[in-house]
Amino acid sequence: MGGAGEADVEGGELSDQPWGGRFGEEPDPLIDRFTRSLAVDSRLFREDIAGSRAYAKALVGAGVLTADEQQRIDVALQEIESEFQLESYPPPLTGEAASYPPPLAGEGTVGASEDIHMAVEDRLRQKLGPLGGKLHTGRSRNDQVAVDLRLYVKTAGAQLIDAVSGLESALIARAEEHLDTVMPGYTHTQRAQPVLLAHHLLAYVEMLHRDRGRIQDALNRADVSPLGAGALAGSGFPIDRTALAHELGFAAAAANSLDAVADRDFALELLAACSIAMVHLSRLCGEIVLWTSVEFSFAALPDALASGSSMMPNKKNPCAAELVRAKSGRVAGDLMNLLMVLKGLPLAYNRDLQEDKEALFDGVDTTIVCLQVAARLVLGLQFDRDLMRTAALSGYTLATEAADYLSRKGLPFRDAHRVVGQMVARGIATHQGLEDFSLEELQQFSPLFSADVFDYLTLEGALKSRDVLGGTAPARVKEALARVKA
Ligand code: ARG
Repeated sequence: MGGAGEADVEGGELSDQPWGGRFGEEPDPLIDRFTRSLAVDSRLFREDIAGSRAYAKALVGAGVLTADEQQRIDVALQEIESEFQLESYPPPLTGEAASYPPPLAGEGTVGASEDIHMAVEDRLRQKLGPLGGKLHTGRSRNDQVAVDLRLYVKTAGAQLIDAVSGLESALIARAEEHLDTVMPGYTHTQRAQPVLLAHHLLAYVEMLHRDRGRIQDALNRADVSPLGAGALAGSGFPIDRTALAHELGFAAAAANSLDAVADRDFALELLAACSIAMVHLSRLCGEIVLWTSVEFSFAALPDALASGSSMMPNKKNPCAAELVRAKSGRVAGDLMNLLMVLKGLPLAYNRDLQEDKEALFDGVDTTIVCLQVAARLVLGLQFDRDLMRTAALSGYTLATEAADYLSRKGLPFRDAHRVVGQMVARGIATHQGLEDFSLEELQQFSPLFSADVFDYLTLEGALKSRDVLGGTAPARVKEALARVKA
């Protein structure tokens, strides 16, 4: 194959890229700018340095570094970590990262590097000279970036789980306060049956509990070290990959070197877990928007959690809740983005994989802040118990109680349904609630009605009758609350 390669042979002096040996031309500025990723992956500097420190130890075992060399590399890497910290990594989004492609690197030791892996290595070689150049023996940026990203996912997953817990605690605290607050439960956004507000809030706790499980599952599968896979075929040096994996806190080393550098399932799984959690947040915040509308008026937000209008002095808008609702689409977009990056990629590493980071970081960052915002909103909601109670009774929400009553007296449920449907139609015509009918009026619809029906045609009666596992009966909700608190 060749001609082109041979034409390049003499070029090596021209490019000062770390990989410039076979290149005879300076990189085209647009292509150079387009392919570098430092502005995005700089935030992996801690993970990158942790990976390098562990890798240097493994190189001692492999006979590549002496213990003394490893010590010097280790100290230098720790210094670099504090230097980068001082340079406030990641850089603010107003600078390089905000324009696309980012402008050519400016001054500074780090800015000239292509990505975070080269930035760390460039700085190491500045500090240690040729010794710094030994660190990459038997390693590739392909296994390096894969290990960095898995370390990131493990940290990010733990932060996500914390944020999920924060929202769960907020919902549980509010549920505990509202064990006797009655509200209308809805289907089709139409008043359906009374439920306890605590029951409604605890429904979200169940969703978040599953979200936490999904995040944990993603973390369990991310807990595998790619390091030592080399570029694709496995390292050419006798690295103890399992010891290296354990040194970095991974449960095991990846079993196949091609898979180790090409796999991003763990990022997809975390984004999928984030996307599902965001759908839950979107539903919760959508309800906050409804509840705080004048039309519902079930709740109000404290001023500090709402925003005003630039034109209409009367407005108090639930903007934060609306934004969480919208950002669920953004995180789903991040998941789609990464799915499409991976689809059809031949094994093993492809530069396409560099695009995984923006989607993953954005999805995780967005989900964490939305969980925090949702918790703040839930803690701040000021519920109007009286209005919710009044709403719980209107809309013939006791109709199912009346039908169940007739069924218990022996009428087949389908017939009971029709009888009570006729009662509802009458009530609509005469502006009466079912609970307003006299016994005589009720008996015109069915002789099975007797005086005890009035025990059932109340909010408390309706709640109490939903006494099954998972139902809204107060005793069941107390049980559920105790269970989620434990
Ligand atoms: N910046 C790259 C990434 O994020 C690192 C690996 C580059 N490897 C390569 N052979 N060009 O995926």
